[in-house]
Amino acid sequence: MNPVLKNSFATYLPPVNRYLRGLSFTDALQKRLAPSQEKAMHYSVDARGKRLRPILTIMAYRLLAEDWQRALPVAAAYELVHTYSLIHDDLPAMDDDDWRRGEPTNHKVFGEALAILTGDALLTEAFRLLAEEVEAAAAVIVKLVATLARVAGGNGMVGGQVIDILSEGVVIKENTKDNENQEDLLELLETLHRRKTGAMITGALLAGADLAGCDNDLRLRLEKFGRLIGLAFQVADDILDEVGDQASLGKDIGSDRELDKLTFVSLFGLEGARQKLLELKQQALLQIEPLGAKAIELKALAEYIVDRDR
Ligand code: IPE
Ligand code: IPE
Ligand code: MG
Ligand code: MG
Ligand code: MG
Repeated sequence: MNPVLKNSFATYLPPVNRYLRGLSFTDALQKRLAPSQEKAMHYSVDARGKRLRPILTIMAYRLLAEDWQRALPVAAAYELVHTYSLIHDDLPAMDDDDWRRGEPTNHKVFGEALAILTGDALLTEAFRLLAEEVEAAAAVIVKLVATLARVAGGNGMVGGQVIDILSEGVVIKENTKDNENQEDLLELLETLHRRKTGAMITGALLAGADLAGCDNDLRLRLEKFGRLIGLAFQVADDILDEVGDQASLGKDIGSDRELDKLTFVSLFGLEGARQKLLELKQQALLQIEPLGAKAIELKALAEYIVDRDR
């Protein structure tokens, strides 16, 4: 791993993990009457996620200010929403997967009903963190809440998940040799990826920048950068689902093929997907080049997203 990124991970990951582990999701009465609720929530939150979204929040904050610990509740809010999305994504009604973050999926351990409710509770808790735990002016908090709602909701992550589910089998059904059709499918695929994965990644970046009080120019630049690395992140995920190592990924591979998902690999093949990934990386790096030395961490992270093996 790039030494800059290694250093960033070593600095940010322990406090992020400590913050997440330290969250108490239920009160004494709930803990006594329904002890599995707290356990099910921490089971998925504490497992070995890469914490990419919290790290993006902190890195964006650090473009403008040094006291990055102030960004921890915001970083955690994004990780909670992301974790909820994974729990629901793995449910039998969705991707029906058995492994996540190196452990059996939440519903395998706690049952479907509790897994659904665990996701619901994590989503809601994220908004409580923003409203009650962030030290910032009310207007900034409103902006953080609005951005998270936007990127997680029906035109963001959830919207992308809906398109993902509705598009199962579409590559097989449609005649992909027909160029016009291929273009329609590409538009559908890019929207699906930008929404289900890219939106939360962009949101995590913007949240860090908004908390630190960034101006419009920087915000626009980060938004473009986020869109590019967000899409790249899901293209890499599609490739890893095909050729990744199950043990290091900590989740099932081959799910996309099994469910006939619309992915960069199913539409363009492995080499086509790898080519797209390289193009996205170049475009993303161009976006942050004008920021100079202070964007060194974001640059290293963009490269990691493309080259990662987990
Ligand atoms: C997996 O996300 C789901 C996608 C949005 C592609 P990550 O690869 O960031 O998963 P964790 O957080 O490290 O488990
Ligand atoms: C899921 O995409 C994106 C989410 C919003 C959770 P995938 O279904 O490809 O994610 P994995 O491969 O199961 O992690
Ligand atoms: Mg899925
Ligand atoms: Mg999945
Ligand atoms: Mg996947």
